[in-house]
Amino acid sequence: MKFFVDTADISEIRELAAAGVLDGVTTNPSLIAKTGRPIRDVIEEICQTIEGPVSAEVTAIHFDDMIAEGERLASIAPNVAVKVPSTWDGFRACRALSQLGHKANVTLCFSADQALLAAKAGATFISPFVGRLDDLGLDGMEVIREIRAIYDNDKSLRTEILASSIRTPLHVKQAAIAGADIATVPPAVLRNLAKHPLTDKGLESFLADWGKTGQTIL
Ligand code: E4P
Repeated sequence: MKFFVDTADISEIRELAAAGVLDGVTTNPSLIAKTGRPIRDVIEEICQTIEGPVSAEVTAIHFDDMIAEGERLASIAPNVAVKVPSTWDGFRACRALSQLGHKANVTLCFSADQALLAAKAGATFISPFVGRLDDLGLDGMEVIREIRAIYDNDKSLRTEILASSIRTPLHVKQAAIAGADIATVPPAVLRNLAKHPLTDKGLESFLADWGKTGQTIL
């Protein structure tokens, strides 16, 4: 499973990219708003830092406006993936943008039926929001399992499952087991993947024992 980071914070992206763990980036209007900067500047800077896909979302809700915004976003860099919502206009825009040769990420997906429509519309990525479903007391990961089964049943569907709204390391592991192709993970959760109390405890005791020998390796 590939890792995208779900942020528009360029310093976080640079730090994680330097660690070699990033396959791409996702942003959304709320994440761009947090930066307080123009979307074009933010996406351009991210695309210069990351070779993989960088998702930038349209804010229009009608087909024609979505296409105009999508083309503007796609013109920023060749690795931009245009995010459109899981609405009827969004599926139409996904098809049109894909036919124009752009990568399309269908976002705000909360059901397997929406994922099926997105794949039939030629989406490069489908973004099912696991955490927001869990927030309602539903099982977000079940939607990932359903989409995996549906896409595996029809080999003509080439869309990658991008598990989104990931809140915990457990979500990441469960998404990988459920067959998601990618998880987009907030920076703090991505860092937490490396943490285990037994690793810290073991390291502490190894270093204490080593200190008593008085040796150095170099
Ligand atoms: C995905 O592309 C979205 O930006 C993101 O995963 C939404 O996550 P949230 O539900 O934590 O806002």
